[in-house]
Amino acid sequence: MRRVAAVATSALAVLALSAPLAQAAPPEETLRSEAPRDLKIGSAVWGQNELLDYDRKNPTEFQRILAAEFNSVTPENDMKWAEIHPEPGVYDFSGADAVVAFAEANNMEVRGHTLLWHSQNPQWVVDASATWTCEEARAVLEEHITTVVSRYAGQIYEWDVANEIFQDDWDTGGVRLRTEANPFLKACAEDPVALIGDAFRWADAADPEALLFLNDYNAEGINNKTDAYYALVQELLADGVPIDGFGAQGHLSLMYGFDESIQENFERFAALGLKVAITEADVRMPLGEDGEPTAEQIALQAERYDAMLVACLNVPACTSFTVWGFDDGHSWVPGVFPEGYATIMTEEFEKKPAYYALLESLTDATPGKSPRTAPGLNR
Ligand code: G3I
Repeated sequence: MRRVAAVATSALAVLALSAPLAQAAPPEETLRSEAPRDLKIGSAVWGQNELLDYDRKNPTEFQRILAAEFNSVTPENDMKWAEIHPEPGVYDFSGADAVVAFAEANNMEVRGHTLLWHSQNPQWVVDASATWTCEEARAVLEEHITTVVSRYAGQIYEWDVANEIFQDDWDTGGVRLRTEANPFLKACAEDPVALIGDAFRWADAADPEALLFLNDYNAEGINNKTDAYYALVQELLADGVPIDGFGAQGHLSLMYGFDESIQENFERFAALGLKVAITEADVRMPLGEDGEPTAEQIALQAERYDAMLVACLNVPACTSFTVWGFDDGHSWVPGVFPEGYATIMTEEFEKKPAYYALLESLTDATPGKSPRTAPGLNR
């Protein structure tokens, strides 16, 4: 019997060698495949909602696209206080673990988001902070940062340590540190910069590998807010604080203009020795009665996304470009604004002109894995 089997096997081998090799289709170009080696291209994802059931052998369409198009993920909510630290001494790492596990399974990096913010704090923090002394606030913040950052040490390449710590021009008192809205800055209002610096020190002690960022919206171009950040960064650096980066969120609306000074702003932070990043890009717009955008709006959206990416590509210190959700079905915008259509794909994952604009600029910057050679670089 063995001899017959041997003859059959060799005949099959001859047939296989003689048949013309089927031409394998070239791999589809993706944002991830076309991104230069020195730029991470990422998306936010809500692990608790989208990744708890992840099965690598049987991914959902959303999960398949997330892994195919991006090499970086940011937990949209899973690492925020309200989700990860719901009660004193009680941590829920389930959503964050799902994001980190998905990233590991798909050779992706993770941006941690966020350790110090005025929003999405759990009720126990809101209640307790009403009577906190600064020492009490510091103890709570240090324990949280040490616990969360240590758990993911070595798995997070960038942390948004302090998020939206400056008010806006239009807020009461104008651009200044949020010592009213942020419960930790409020308790330490006598010297909020010292607390901010210690937050970075605690994160650095817990994970020396992670790049530690400030992060904010309306922080793309040169304005009163980014001037305040520029001064704060210099103060922190002079005090030996281990701060590594400045993140501009990139939440834009077609209801407003585009600040062309974004590259200049990135360059001045880079000149301080910082990395920069676009951390939460989306471009929202008011929609018609039919809930649809016009062709002009769709074209302008593509231009705005591309302008943010090109500013990043043109500044070597720009380490990552992250969209705040890649499809309209997962966008935060409609729940907050009378606007929508903010991401680079429709609810049905149809790629918009904005997607193709990003793909083209990533491809033009550098084919594949080399360092970028973007038009603005003197290479
Ligand atoms: O988790 C609760 C759920 O238990 C409850 O049933 C439900 C009822 O509404 O609320 C859920 O909380 C939601 C929370 O996300 C989840 O953590 C809140 O409703 C919802 O308002 C909240 O929205 C998030 C928003 O931050 C809060 O400010 C968005 O998903 C998130 O995309 C958005 O992201 C922020 C960045 O972190 C910082 N930059 C601005 C950006 C947009 O606001």
